[in-house]
Amino acid sequence: MMSSNIRNWNELLANKVVLLTSAAGSVARYIARACYAHGARLVLGDLDLEKTNKVKDEILENENNNEDRILVVELDVTNETTTYVLGNVEQVSDENWSRVFDVNVRGYALMAKYIAPIFKKQNSGSIVNMGSISGLIASPNWIPYSATKGAIIQLTRNLVLDLGSFNIRVNSVSPSGINATTTYEIGESVGMNKNQLDEFIKGKCLQRVCQPEEVANLFVFLASDLCPFMTGANLVLDGGSTIV
Ligand SMILES: NC(=O)c1ccc[n+]([C@@H]2O[C@H](COP(=O)([O-])OP(=O)(O)OC[C@H]3O[C@@H](n4cnc5c(N)ncnc54)[C@H](O)[C@@H]3O)[C@@H](O)[C@H]2O)c1
Repeated sequence: MMSSNIRNWNELLANKVVLLTSAAGSVARYIARACYAHGARLVLGDLDLEKTNKVKDEILENENNNEDRILVVELDVTNETTTYVLGNVEQVSDENWSRVFDVNVRGYALMAKYIAPIFKKQNSGSIVNMGSISGLIASPNWIPYSATKGAIIQLTRNLVLDLGSFNIRVNSVSPSGINATTTYEIGESVGMNKNQLDEFIKGKCLQRVCQPEEVANLFVFLASDLCPFMTGANLVLDGGSTIV
């Protein structure tokens, strides 16, 4: 279906199945909600089943309907859980380097490995990887996390080339700091309160922090058939932080 045929803009994902990994995360729950609102059937995968079931209950409550299009599954993308490892090169332990690459790079690669045969069979599919502006710019004492995000952006490009002939699209989304619980927990761990952190991460042009709903809308767009020619893009969502 091409954009010109879209009759209902509120149902961009009708007839689509969206598999969301780390679905109970503070940003992913917004992505789940937006995809559901646009008509998708959802598979929510996370290590933490209790939290993921809460995400499902919240969505069904908000949607105020009796239809249940959500399946919750226990999903371990790799055998590690450490998304955020910060520090300078002398501080970070050998083990933490391995941990953060395990989740943030190997986890993404393994998801692509196991979803690719399914997408090939149906001759279509859209993979959306979560990057970050940390994959594009350097910040003091953010080396491990930044290095993984740079790797995700390049992993995306290589997947584009290898999977394109099967009509499989791969794109990444790179937000700046998002208004989400984890963001402020990380801020506190490095001695910054919410106001200080907001000041630090706000977009230089729009002068505010990114909202999780905005990230979610971008995922809906990439998962939809609105622009099926788009592959290999790294869509930066940063309020203009990285252009100045
Ligand atoms: N928060 C921000 O400001 C921000 C900015 C840019 C990019 N991002 C990216 O967005 C993504 C989500 O970030 P968040 O802050 O919402 O994270 P989060 O810590 O809130 O959520 C992570 C989720 O992943 C799950 N998880 C951890 N290891 C797993 C594994 N091995 N298998 C399956 N599930 C696992 C956890 O249970 C948790 O629910 C990350 O990739 C992050 O780099 C976040």
